[in-house]
Amino acid sequence: MPDQQGKTALVTGANTGIGFEAAKVLAARGATVVLACRDLAKAEAAASQISAAAPRARVETLRLDLASLASVHQAAEQFHANHRCLNLLINNAGVIHPAYARTEDGFELHFGTNHLGHFAFTGLMLDRLLAVPGSRIVTVSSSGHRRGDIHLDDLALQHGYGLNAAYGQSKLANLMFTYELQRQLAAIGARTIAVAAHPGNAYTEVGRHMPGWVRVALSPRLRLLNSWLLQSAQMGALPTLRAAVDPVATGGDYYGPAGPGEFTGHPTRVKSSARSHNADLQRRLWEESERLTGVNYRLAEQTAPHTD
Ligand SMILES: NC(=O)c1ccc[n+]([C@@H]2O[C@H](COP(=O)([O-])OP(=O)(O)OC[C@H]3O[C@@H](n4cnc5c(N)ncnc54)[C@H](OP(=O)(O)O)[C@@H]3O)[C@@H](O)[C@H]2O)c1
Repeated sequence: MPDQQGKTALVTGANTGIGFEAAKVLAARGATVVLACRDLAKAEAAASQISAAAPRARVETLRLDLASLASVHQAAEQFHANHRCLNLLINNAGVIHPAYARTEDGFELHFGTNHLGHFAFTGLMLDRLLAVPGSRIVTVSSSGHRRGDIHLDDLALQHGYGLNAAYGQSKLANLMFTYELQRQLAAIGARTIAVAAHPGNAYTEVGRHMPGWVRVALSPRLRLLNSWLLQSAQMGALPTLRAAVDPVATGGDYYGPAGPGEFTGHPTRVKSSARSHNADLQRRLWEESERLTGVNYRLAEQTAPHTD
């Protein structure tokens, strides 16, 4: 892991799970890390834990609720007030929720939180990212993207809601967003890149809204039985960290565990579904995301100060 002194990283959903582990490593390697979380008390507790493990770590907290566009705007404004540049944005936060629910702005919860919230936040942070040559945007997807499709005519899935369809749509959107963003960054000659990762299956709080039997089956207490299927949150954070810091990573790369089924293992470059590479659908998803969030990237109008 290269030294991260002098760099600023922002991790969404950094109070627990993959985000917490990634933030902890980045802080221990010298980065200033902003924990962007919807619950400030949880964020402060996580910051204290990171500081206890690495007393010289520079850790800040920022309130960000991705299920609220108002909160997304407030968080971006607050970051702008305190920071002139951002080296690394890790779009990690995510929700899996079996029951149908909506965000504050009326979007289906998975699509609104996992995709639209991050789409809007990234767009609002772009000037700070473009200000740094070599900056990166890492978005955390899931193998579950393979079970999803983008239903542009029914993004709220009112005509066929299911957990796999909803979570899968949001995680497919995470990848399509990354690929389209990378294409647009390359088109303006930016030296900011967009990359993606997935953690495999990791012991985190991700199943907190799932039925009790699922939580038991995925419990670390069954580690000996589950070791082929599940890995620690620390291991699950490695694909994200590799996407974030590997010097040879290039725009559009996707990292995940190297083991069978990409369930567990050390991070390697992996392939996403054929559907995720549908450039026409990527572009239409992008346009719809701009319309729904009201955040227009206008990348062609951005000055790209770091073109060669
Ligand atoms: N663990 C796995 O096996 C697995 C597999 C595939 C993909 N992933 C992906 O990995 C990422 C991290 O998940 P995890 O496993 O670390 O789950 P986790 O332990 O449940 O952590 C999720 C994080 O997202 C935050 N979050 C949820 N809704 C939010 C919102 N509206 N605004 C801001 N933050 C919000 C949570 O905050 P609160 O604590 O306040 O709720 C928490 O910090 C997710 O994108 C998930 O889809 C995980």
